Formats: sequence, structure tokens, C-alpha cells
Amino acid sequence: MKLNKFFLLFLIIACFGCGREVEFTHDIDVNIQLDKTPLGVSVIADSLDIPWEIAWGPDDQIWVSEQPGIISKIDPVTGKKTVLLNVDSVWMKRTSGLLGMAVHANQQKYPYVFINYTLERDGGYFSRLERYTVEGDTLVSPLTLLEIPAGTGHNGSRITIGGKGDRLFWATGDIAKDGNAQDIHNLNGKILCMDFDGNIPADNPDPDSYVWAFGFRNIQGLVYTPNGNLYASEHGDAIEDEINLIRPKRNYGWHVIEGFHDQYYEKEYAQEHNAIEPMKSWTPTIAPAGLDYYTSEAIPEWTNSLVLVTLKGQGFRVLKLNTKGEKIVDEKIFLEKEYGRIRDLCISPSGELYISTSNRDWNPMTEPDAKDDRILRIAKVDSVGENVLYAKTEVENSNIEMTGEVLYQKYCLACHKLNGKGVPEVFPPLAGSSVITKHEELIPLVLNGYKGADVEMPSFKFLSNSDLSKVLTYINSQWGNKGAEITEKEIEVYR
Ligand code: HEC
Repeated sequence: MKLNKFFLLFLIIACFGCGREVEFTHDIDVNIQLDKTPLGVSVIADSLDIPWEIAWGPDDQIWVSEQPGIISKIDPVTGKKTVLLNVDSVWMKRTSGLLGMAVHANQQKYPYVFINYTLERDGGYFSRLERYTVEGDTLVSPLTLLEIPAGTGHNGSRITIGGKGDRLFWATGDIAKDGNAQDIHNLNGKILCMDFDGNIPADNPDPDSYVWAFGFRNIQGLVYTPNGNLYASEHGDAIEDEINLIRPKRNYGWHVIEGFHDQYYEKEYAQEHNAIEPMKSWTPTIAPAGLDYYTSEAIPEWTNSLVLVTLKGQGFRVLKLNTKGEKIVDEKIFLEKEYGRIRDLCISPSGELYISTSNRDWNPMTEPDAKDDRILRIAKVDSVGENVLYAKTEVENSNIEMTGEVLYQKYCLACHKLNGKGVPEVFPPLAGSSVITKHEELIPLVLNGYKGADVEMPSFKFLSNSDLSKVLTYINSQWGNKGAEITEKEIEVYR
């Protein structure tokens, strides 16, 4: 990461609602030059512990949920953090913990904050959707709206407010159990809709069910736009991360269908089960997380776009929509690998973008540094300094030659890591692994994947024999491993 400081920017911000003028004095870390608009990126808060949700509050503060259980407000101008609540019943292991949060924009009418967290109770794990009432700088009167089963993987979850400001949408994960998402009587792997007391609204697709839409694996981004469109970002398995435009009652296909309906069995299933295709899908995966809608004119290049942050992709993407919001017509990639994993974002009414890192979570791409995790502000500046970055596109990224090393980075690194050491007790090290020289174990494992009670490795059957030969030969020659070449012919034998 670059922390060069080129110039100091003083931006006068009118502090709405309090009538005072304050100076925004954070250093510009790096600049981004769009077609026309120059942007500055600055760190406004650091030393956070896995901020899972950041939300712009009606009080012009950034509301933050940190995965271990802390809810706080951060002043975007001074960076001052005020803790509102420590949710002490949080059970956190890997992807579980304090996750989604939504702050109602109309606090006069609905003085509520909604949160989702996992907890251990009666020997089981549950994902709880809870409503709190805001009272000054504290949150009081917790009310459980709904509880569903939780797991250590695929817990979702995002919460967003929609309808006429009177509906709560909750995107739940399938907790890594195939079948949950396609079962409409099971609340995992769904988008649920309810009122603020946890009742099923009479105008839900089925007035007896919370289910608004189904067939989801693990949604980590959900946004309801001013014109009434609901979009979700979703983690695929080894392939096909998705963005979906959510229509009531529709089936989004998981776990039978991945991404576009391009396989004969997917087409067949889609027809039989009225399944719908994503707006966009990514292979190799990018691990899409927080999703928001850019409506402001402040950065005109971004008006009417979805903004998506990525964990594995380590940056953010601006996905330009057509007028109706039914198609993604352009994609630009920003800040790739500059600050590590990015989990969430929020956009202020004046069009500044805030993003938060997730380098202290269970699956870090690199060693977190002492100041992780951070919240960064991305806003218009007068001109750029010397340290300027530009947008990238998928086409530029896909022009890279597919060597064993590149294939490893695209498909294996997210779990087995750059140094081949994996993650203790979750993903085994490939450095010094005894399996990698046993071709009769290695090749079937990589072709078929592995599904344990608690961990999984996806199947890589979709890679060609040539790509598999390159990546398997690569892992046999790295980190002190001295295995033999694995040929295409040998791989064909096990297919
Ligand atoms: C989503 C995480 C994930 C990804 C991505 C992934 N793996 Fe794995 N890998 C695992 C898990 C979990 C295991 C343990 C499986 C078991 O217990 O049998 C594993 C085991 C292995 C092993 C056996 C190691 C040992 O000593 O037991 C090898 C070799 C391996 N993976 C290679 C790869 C290669 C090559 C890729 C990329 C093409 C890859 N993996 C991508 C999760 C992953």
C-alpha cells in the first residue's frame, strides 16, 4: 500500500443541521483521475476491527458495525468514534458475527436501527434480526424480529430499507447447505421482506411467507434504489459471482444454476422452475460484497451506477446502468490491491463515497498492518497530485497471459494464500503438502472439489487440462516443493 502524501487538501464542508463550518483536513493518500473528474482518496478512520457494515446516517455520521459486536458512529470530518452498543451475545467464528445493519433515514417517524448477528443458543447457532431504538448515543429496547439457523460459512447478510420507507429486506445466506436455497419453506438462501415489527406484510408475494425471492448462495450486498429497484451482489463458488436485479417471487437458481443459464441442465432447470438470469457474472470470482447506488451528480461519470466493493478483488467497481436500471452497460475497476479487502461502502447525499477494509477478517489476503481496518473517503478534488491512478477494465485484466502463477492467483490464492501457507485449521498449506506429489489424490481433489462439514474446496473441472496442468505443476514447484510436472494427459485420465 502506498501512503505517500503529496499535498494537503483543505475542503470546506458545510455541516448541515448544525450551522457551523468545519474543515476537512485529512491528507490525500492517492488520486484517481476519471474521464473528467479528479478524485482524492483519504483515510478518515483506522484501527477498526472488521467493519462489516458502514451506513450513512441522517445525522451525517457514518454508522459502523464491527464483526466482533461493536456498533458505533464515526464523524467523517474528525474521524471521532462514538460507541453506541456492544452486542455481547455475538458468536463469531469465520463469517459469523455482527454483520448487516440498516439505519432508518427518517428517524423522526422510525427511530430504528436494524442489525443482524449470529449467536449460540441451546446448543445451536442462530442468525438474529433485531431492531433497536435510537436514544441519543445509545441503542435501547431490542426487539427480535426473526431468527433463522446460522453456520460458520455463507451467513449473508445485508439489510436494507425499501418500499415506501416501511419495509425491511433481509438477505440471508444458505449456510453452505445445498438444498436450502431452493426450498421456499426454508428461510436460508433468501431475500426476506417484513415490516418493522417483524410481521409478514399482506402484500408480500405470498402473504403467509417472508420470502421475497429465493435461490441465493451468499449475498453480501443489497440496495434499494429511489426508483424502487432492488439489487443484490452474491458470492459464487469457484465461478460465477453475480449481480442480480431482484424481482418478487423469482428463483435465482442456486444451488442448481450458477451464473448465466449456459449449461443444458441449467436451461432445463430454469425453464421448469421459472428461474431468472443474473445481470452480470464474474469468473474468476472477485468476492463481491457491499453494494450501493450512486444517484448524485457530484461525480457525473458515476451517476446512475451501482458501486460494488470486492474482497478477493480488493477494490471497488462502478457498474453503469441503463436508464431503466435493468442492464449493466459498463464496468470500471478502481483501487485494485491498494488497500486490501474491501467489505462495505456508503455514499453521502453530497456524493462522497466511503469504503471500508476487511484485512483483519478470517481470510486475509495479506498480513493486516497496524492501522487496519480503515474507512476511506473518495471525493472530488480540484486537481490531482503526482500519485494518480486510473480506472481499469476487465478486458485489460483478462489480457494477462495465463501462466501457472496467474492461474494460482486467480483460482487458489484466496484460500491457500500467496505464501502457500493457507489459513490454520481452515485451508491446508500447499507448502510442504504430502498430497501434491500423490497425483492419484491431487488430480481427483482438484477436479471434484471437497465438501466437509465445515470447510469446502470448489471443483475446478471447468478449467481446461492445459490450465490445470499449469497450475498443478506450479504448486509442485513453489515454496520449496519439488514435485514433478503434471501433464495434460494425466489429468485427462481422471476426468
Ligand atoms: C474456497 C477455498 C479453496 C480454494 C479456492 C482452493 N482450495 Fe484447495 N483446499 C481447500 C480446502 C478446504 C482443502 C482441504 C480439503 C480436505 O480436507 O480434503 C483444500 C485442499 C487442497 C489440497 C490438499 C492439501 C493437503 O495437503 O491436504 C491441494 C493440493 C489443493 N487444495 C490445491 C488447490 C488448488 C490447486 C487450487 C486452485 C486451483 C485450490 N486448491 C483452490 C480450499 C480451497
